[in-house]
Amino acid sequence: MFSFMPPKVLLGIDISSTAVKLVELRKKGKAYKVETYAIAPLPEGATSEGSLVNARLIAKAIKHAVKKSRTRIKHCALAVPSSLVVSQKIRVPNDLDQYDLDSLIRLEAEQYIPYPIDAVQLDYNIIGTSKDGKHFDVLLVVSRSENINLRVDAAELAGLNVKLVDIESHILEKLMNHLMVNHHNELLAVLDYGAVMTKITFFKNSQLIFSQEYAFGGEQLTSEIMQRFGLNLDEARQAKQSGNLPESYIPEVLEPFKQRMSKQLGRFLQLFYAATHENHIDRILLAGGCALIPGIDEQIQTDFDIPTLIANPFLNCSLGKKIDPQYFTSDISTLLHATGLSLRGMD
Ligand SMILES: Nc1ncnc2c1ncn2[C@@H]1O[C@H](COP(=O)(O)OP(=O)(O)OP(=O)(O)O)[C@@H](O)[C@H]1O
Ligand SMILES: [Mg+2]
Repeated sequence: MFSFMPPKVLLGIDISSTAVKLVELRKKGKAYKVETYAIAPLPEGATSEGSLVNARLIAKAIKHAVKKSRTRIKHCALAVPSSLVVSQKIRVPNDLDQYDLDSLIRLEAEQYIPYPIDAVQLDYNIIGTSKDGKHFDVLLVVSRSENINLRVDAAELAGLNVKLVDIESHILEKLMNHLMVNHHNELLAVLDYGAVMTKITFFKNSQLIFSQEYAFGGEQLTSEIMQRFGLNLDEARQAKQSGNLPESYIPEVLEPFKQRMSKQLGRFLQLFYAATHENHIDRILLAGGCALIPGIDEQIQTDFDIPTLIANPFLNCSLGKKIDPQYFTSDISTLLHATGLSLRGMD
């Protein structure tokens, strides 16, 4: 989506609400290799109420991630959250020339977007032909230009060339298709517990069939730690990750939070079963920073009786020399989007 001809190697740059995540993936024959990766926190002021607002501060974090990773690649792929994109399937006559097709699609798009057409970026893909052979089915995607421009500006300010901007849900689907081959024939739920959002995406035979998101995430646990133990934001974040907190933390703060995570999943599953004809799930993959909360995988597996794993986007990849095994950390569960974006270089 929103793409030019991508070069062979692309940095996947995921700008989330708390950090910039970078992955450089390469392909040799059929094998994938993670050349390098890095995570750099966003400085204060880069976001406001969970949304990205300041390109200059985001650029600072991108530069930091590039330096940390020691990559030499300058071309990159970015993503916009699915919640900032309107996707719509439409049907158009298949005998139009390019100019008429573009004009018709712009006209059709105006029906689906609550903004002036000049304030959006629009792209489309022909995804099939109708049974009568006279029409194309087209997937139309539209996002406000400012959502895209802010991200592109930040990457360019950091010295990178943006080769494409895709949608997070497409990226995840791509990752499932290429790297998560061990799960191809399963009905899979990828549950991404982030800092401010929890997103669930269901895949059947690696095709995305349903997704939902809800404003719930690790920063709620951070603010409870701040209030309860009188810490500032940085102290609370660090203490949460190191576990260096008073004894009462686990039973009185962490366990109730884990129960809320599990309850949220229960609501997602109810919605999924009600909206589809499915009646079971083969496996849950936990992603995002909150997947690192000790024991959350076991708790979910027990509560729902569904096999649960922490997602590993590098499952079928070898590791490059720039990755020091000593510093190879468990937080790769937060790299699903960055990895999927880097895969776009291999289209
Ligand atoms: N070891 C850990 N234990 C508990 N929580 C952790 C750990 N590591 C990271 N987190 C929390 O995970 C969250 C960040 O996760 P992630 O990187 O997936 O978020 P994000 O992608 O920036 O957020 P969002 O998807 O909501 O935009 C933060 O709240 C952070 O405190
Ligand atoms: Mg995230």
